Amino acid sequence: MSAIIPSQARMSAFLVKMRAIMEQTQAKRIVPVNRIILGITGGIAAYKAAELLRLLMKQGMEVQVAMTEAASHFITPTTMQGLSGKPVLTSQWDDAGNGMAHINSSRAADAIIIAPATADFIAKLAHGLADDLLSALCLARHCPLLVAPAMNREMWQNAATQRNIAQLLADGVRVLGPACGVQACGEEGMGRMLEAEQLAQDIAAFFQPKLFSGKQILITAGPTYEAIDAVRGITNRSSGKMGYAVAQAALEQGAEVTLVSGPTALAKPQGAQVVDVTSAAQMFEAVKQRAADCDIFIGVAAVADYRIAQPGTQKIKKSTETLTLELVPNPDILAYVAALPNPPFCVGFAAESENLAKYAEQKRCVKNVPLLVGNLAQQAIGSDDNELVLFDDSGNRVLPRADKLTLARLLMQHIAQLYEGADQ
Ligand code: PMT
Repeated sequence: MSAIIPSQARMSAFLVKMRAIMEQTQAKRIVPVNRIILGITGGIAAYKAAELLRLLMKQGMEVQVAMTEAASHFITPTTMQGLSGKPVLTSQWDDAGNGMAHINSSRAADAIIIAPATADFIAKLAHGLADDLLSALCLARHCPLLVAPAMNREMWQNAATQRNIAQLLADGVRVLGPACGVQACGEEGMGRMLEAEQLAQDIAAFFQPKLFSGKQILITAGPTYEAIDAVRGITNRSSGKMGYAVAQAALEQGAEVTLVSGPTALAKPQGAQVVDVTSAAQMFEAVKQRAADCDIFIGVAAVADYRIAQPGTQKIKKSTETLTLELVPNPDILAYVAALPNPPFCVGFAAESENLAKYAEQKRCVKNVPLLVGNLAQQAIGSDDNELVLFDDSGNRVLPRADKLTLARLLMQHIAQLYEGADQ
């Protein structure tokens, strides 16, 4: 990756042109709208359900809220109605239709999420009780049930709760959390409901199609660091966010993921095998050892094109003389993998500051990969959002601006289509 700093005016003209191309291109949406029942039970964490509702709707999900009578002591149905734009289901007896609210609502849902799920409600689910609308519609459901427990740590640890949770897991219910931390009662321990953002991510992950079950995916991410001496080095501003999002999306879609990561400050994606490296040479070695065993290789890393010919082993002392550093080219990891006798399906990335289409297509040809993902360096590096353009044999396709995980999920769906179509 090399740095190009064009003039401000040239850059804005380029960005305007790029946006126009992106707007003209019809981006096919392949994320289905999921219909969710968000069930709220009576715990202090009910306040987090408002934010969860907002985040689920932001992901394009249709959400119907159902609340127990106890829940309405913690957050009002009016709040949830205002946010969801739909009347909240609260009672079996208010149904103006056929008197079958529990059947009708559960049949119309792709999943039911109970957040927060109190110890009492979990006990009801475990025993199949159905003495209010929410528990009745859980019992009457055809769709998956996810619960986010929230309770005092002693209640969570109690043998009865643990028995009930084990029963729910045995019944195929997905249990999200709980987390450990300070509780509303002032005690500290397991039992806090997961934060709304984490829950929204887990729920979206649940809906991802398992397109890569049994597939091994090798991903590089982040920057590399090329030492100049014992304390200085050459690196770039890649944060690793895009590569880690691709790893997360691949995991959600059922793949076994190995992530070869340059230095980043990010939490490791749960379930991935992470190999930490520093320099391009180390990244190359880590990839070489694993490339033959993977089905798909995705190079998201911003690998330094050059390294110092002879890095100092000690700190170079300051002097008044000009310091000249000799740079030698690094091996091209992606090109190496693509040229293996029996290569995995290879995907490259290109961060460009101008002429994205031209340079990305050039890189696709030079590196001989079926798919090259282009992005604008000034929008992509370090940011939480991005815009991607996918270049393959059939032309190009734009994934409009979104957070990196959303884009990564769409990218992985695109890769699945190409991978299926390729001669394996
Ligand atoms: O990490 P973030 O802050 O989220 O930013 C994400 C990103 C902008 C770094 C990412 O989306 C991206 O575009 N990565 C590729 C950066 C780039 O421009 O790479 P490149 O043009 O130098 O290389 C093209 C491709 O070859 C890349 O897939 C790269 O991983 C690979 N390569 C490059 C050089 C090299 N020696 N070995 C390689 O494998």
